[in-house]
Amino acid sequence: MTEESTTPKYHIKSFGCQMNAYDAQRMGELLVAQGYEATEQPENADLVLLNTCHIREKAAEKVYSDIGRLREMKLEREADGKQMMIGIAGCVAQAEGKEIFKRAPVVDLVVGPQSYHRLDALLAKAKTGRRAIDTEFPVEEKFAHLPHTRANPNRAPSAFLTVQEGCDKFCTFCVVPYTRGAEVSRAPEAILAEAQKLIDHGVQELTLLGQNVNAYHGVDATGTTWSLARLLYALAELPQVSRLRYMTSHPRDMAQDLIHAHRDLPQLMPYLHLPVQSGSDRILKAMNRGHTAQHYVELMQHMRDIRPDIVFSSDFIVGFPGETDEDFEDTLRVIDTVKFHAPSYSFKYSPRPGTPAAEHKTQVPEAVMQARLLHLQQILAAQQTYGLAQHIGTTQAVLFEKIGREAGQIIGRTPHAYSIHVVATPALIGTIQHVRVVDQKRNSLGGVVLL
Ligand code: 5AD
Ligand code: SF4
Repeated sequence: MTEESTTPKYHIKSFGCQMNAYDAQRMGELLVAQGYEATEQPENADLVLLNTCHIREKAAEKVYSDIGRLREMKLEREADGKQMMIGIAGCVAQAEGKEIFKRAPVVDLVVGPQSYHRLDALLAKAKTGRRAIDTEFPVEEKFAHLPHTRANPNRAPSAFLTVQEGCDKFCTFCVVPYTRGAEVSRAPEAILAEAQKLIDHGVQELTLLGQNVNAYHGVDATGTTWSLARLLYALAELPQVSRLRYMTSHPRDMAQDLIHAHRDLPQLMPYLHLPVQSGSDRILKAMNRGHTAQHYVELMQHMRDIRPDIVFSSDFIVGFPGETDEDFEDTLRVIDTVKFHAPSYSFKYSPRPGTPAAEHKTQVPEAVMQARLLHLQQILAAQQTYGLAQHIGTTQAVLFEKIGREAGQIIGRTPHAYSIHVVATPALIGTIQHVRVVDQKRNSLGGVVLL
C-alpha cells in the first residue's frame, strides 16, 4: 500500500497578464504559509484556484468551461471521500462577484485581486460549507499583509515585482479601472525591500509590473513622491541587479526622466512595450487614450534617438466601434513608421459589460475585424522576423532562465527580450553569458555560448 501525504495540496491556474502571474505566485506563498503544498495536477488538489482574466469576453468565458471540468474532478474526489474546494480569483471574481455562485454553484469561494491577502479567512469559512466572497479594494492593506518571505524554489534569475496597481485612464473599451480599481502605487521602501529579498533568493532581473506602471508615483516615509524613473535609478544601485524592465506603460506617462533613464542606466534593458491600440486620431479620441498618433510616433522616435538599439512592441485593437477602413489604414501607417521588432499583441475588439464603447451603435462586423486582424498580424510578423534577423551573427549577453523543451537545451533572454535557446549545461542557468546568434525561428533565436 502506498502511503499518501496528508499535506493538503493546492493548484492555481492563472490566466491573462503578468500582474495575474505575480498574484498567483503570491497566493501560492500564502497557501504554503497555511500548510498547503503545490501540485501540478488539479485532480490531486484539495483546493483549486482559477486566477481569472476579464479583459476580453473569450478570456472570461474560459473560466466557466474550466469550472465545468473541475466539477467532474470534484465529484470524483468526493466519491473517494476527498475534498476539492474551487475558488475563483482575479478579475472575473471582481467583475462578477456573487453572480459566479449563481452561474456555477460548485464554486466555494470568490476572491478579488485586491483581497487575496484574506484568503485564509475565506478558506476557513468555505471549509465549513458556507460560500465565501471578498471583493473589496484595500490595495495597500493587501501588500502589507502578504507573507514577508518570497520563496524562489527554482532559483529563477528573473522575477516580477508589482509596484503599482489599477488604472484611472478609463479607456472606453477597458474593464481594468472597474476590476482593478483606481491607481495605487506602493511605497518605494516596500518595493526596495521586496527587491532585496528577491536578490537574496538569487534574482538578477526585475520586471516592475503595473497596469499603468509608468504612472507610478509612490510616496516615501518623508512624504516625497517618487516617479518610476527614480525607482529605477534606486534599483539600479543594488549591485546584484543586472537587468531591469517594466510593463505595461501608457504613452501619456512616458515622462522625460523615464526616457532619460533609458539613456543613463545600462541595467535598463533596450526594450519598451508601449500600447498604442490604434493609429487613427478619431479612434484614439473615441477610445479616450488622450494622445494622437503623431504624439506616439514622435515619442518612439525620441526613444530611438536616446537609445538607438531599443526594440519596441505594442498592443493593438482592431474593430473598435466605428473603425473604418481609413482608420485601420492609419493604424497600419503607424506600424510601418515605428516598426515593432518584438512580439506585439493584437486583438479584435470585444465589448465588455459596463464600458462606454460597448454601448456604441456601430459595432464592426466580425468578418471585417477578422480580416483586419489577419492583415495587421501579417505585417507585425514580418517586422518581428526582420528584428530577429538583425541579430543573426551578433553576440548577445544572454541571461539563462530555464531548461528548454528539447534535450540538452537551455533558454534565456537577450537584452531585447528575445527568447534564445542554446545547447549547454544547465549549470549556466542563472548566469549571463555571451552567445553568438546563429539562427532564428518564428518567435525566437538560436545560438552558441562563447566560453
Ligand atoms: N477588446 C479587445 N482588446 C482589449 N484590450 C483591453 N480591452 C479590450 C477589449 N475590450 C487589450 C488592449 C490592452 C490589452 C491588455 O488588452 O490592447 O492593451
Ligand atoms: Fe485599460 Fe486604458 Fe487603463 Fe490600459 S490605460 S488598463 S487599456 S483603461
